[in-house]
Amino acid sequence: MAHSIVIFGASGDLTSRKLIPALYELRRKGRLPEQTRVIGFSRTQFTNEAWREKLYESTAQFVGKSFDSAVWQEFAPSVFYHAGDIGDADDFASLAKYLDELEGEQGATRVYYLSTAPQFYEPAVAQLGAAGMVDEPHHKRRLVIEKPFGTDLQSACRLNQAVHEVFAEHQVYRIDHYLGKETVQNVLVLRFANSIFEPIWNRNYIDHVQITAAEEVTIGHRAGYYDGVGILRDMFQNHLLQLLTLTAMEAPTRFEATAVRDEKVKVLRAIKPLSRDDVLIDTLRGQYRKYRDEPGVAPDSETATFGVVKLCVHNWRWQGVPFFLRTGKAMSCRTTQIVIQFRQAPHMMFEMGPQTTNQTNRLVIQVQPAEGIQLHFHTKVPDVGMKLRLTDLNFLFKEKFAGEMPEAYQRLLLDVMQGDASLFSRSDEVELAWGIIDPIAATWQATSLPPLELYEAGGWGPPNSTEWMQRHDREWFDSCPVLK
Ligand code: BG6
Repeated sequence: MAHSIVIFGASGDLTSRKLIPALYELRRKGRLPEQTRVIGFSRTQFTNEAWREKLYESTAQFVGKSFDSAVWQEFAPSVFYHAGDIGDADDFASLAKYLDELEGEQGATRVYYLSTAPQFYEPAVAQLGAAGMVDEPHHKRRLVIEKPFGTDLQSACRLNQAVHEVFAEHQVYRIDHYLGKETVQNVLVLRFANSIFEPIWNRNYIDHVQITAAEEVTIGHRAGYYDGVGILRDMFQNHLLQLLTLTAMEAPTRFEATAVRDEKVKVLRAIKPLSRDDVLIDTLRGQYRKYRDEPGVAPDSETATFGVVKLCVHNWRWQGVPFFLRTGKAMSCRTTQIVIQFRQAPHMMFEMGPQTTNQTNRLVIQVQPAEGIQLHFHTKVPDVGMKLRLTDLNFLFKEKFAGEMPEAYQRLLLDVMQGDASLFSRSDEVELAWGIIDPIAATWQATSLPPLELYEAGGWGPPNSTEWMQRHDREWFDSCPVLK
């Protein structure tokens, strides 16, 4: 079956950094369906040849050592460009004509990929509808929307409404690239393809969960987007809540979009949004010290570049088990980890000295980098009586599987072409996630509380983050990738 992938905002960064490299890689691996065409649409004028040349350079750069010019030469003729303006109905009419010509009588499944600035999502969808480009008499029409999906609950609902006026929900694929990561999908496999974890994956055995996404990078030149958006909207509403839902959800009956997303939605529904008082106690916000010197950042910016949020999932499995979510820029290293911290053994007959909450069994799911899993457990130290030490068992993807970890967009693009929405956010999921984040963002903004703590780059956020965790009777697992 033929496919047309139409990228709106084609001259932007995402297209050259992620989308085209992912499509190229799929082609190189022989996974791109036969007769897949890519059509770029944006205002900049390019001929097909000029766009292909530009993409050749960027793809070679971003794909790196697996780039092969010969494969590119095979792939390039299926890449096209059509200049146009999202605000201009005539440009959509001419795009429709161009696509019809390219596809010929045979037609094609179409994927409309919105990779524009978010303010163009609604107009683009409306234009597609008005130009009659969404009708499906013979072939499927699908819409992919990049993040951010709204900036709060209200704008997300409005966007969902605008999208639903033109597309049915089953045609819509909202991207959260974390779901395209192999290790994130592996959370489902770890939990639901093994029988040994599920029996202990609950409040009887788990003390708390820590989900940390630490980034070493600062915001660099992204102030135009980031300042004002901040850590809650940039990372919590999407990536961190996705990691939480996958960790906390019940087993779906099938690996299929509706079943998987129903279970994720149930988790989000079980999280009671924080009240203003809760926000003061259960969240923390910080800004790295040089943030206000970054180009384009307001000199008095209160934008948080670090945040901690404690959430509770009110259901039988998780009652009383806090989920500590934490993410920040300019941290000591790049690491994304889900740490399942188990309870202490009910009765300890060995001398262990004073115990901390960090000395119990722990499962560390190392999402990135050095993808893998580490299990911590007590062992007898040989030849010193009954002395114990926490030791570990390691699993590293790169040791067990050949080849590089694929970029998230490869899987996601292929899934859209195949019509599998399991790894995409549904409308209710996005709205529920905003419903959790909005009250936190509103309190941070209205009260300037908790105070915005400054922190030095290269650490684990504001110094009082340690005390904050002690007040919650726990300790952070501050560790750069546990696996190398
Ligand atoms: C993006 C955020 O969605 O995710 C960025 O906008 C962040 O601020 C990035 O750096 C992190 O993604 P990854 O895949 O590098 O963990």
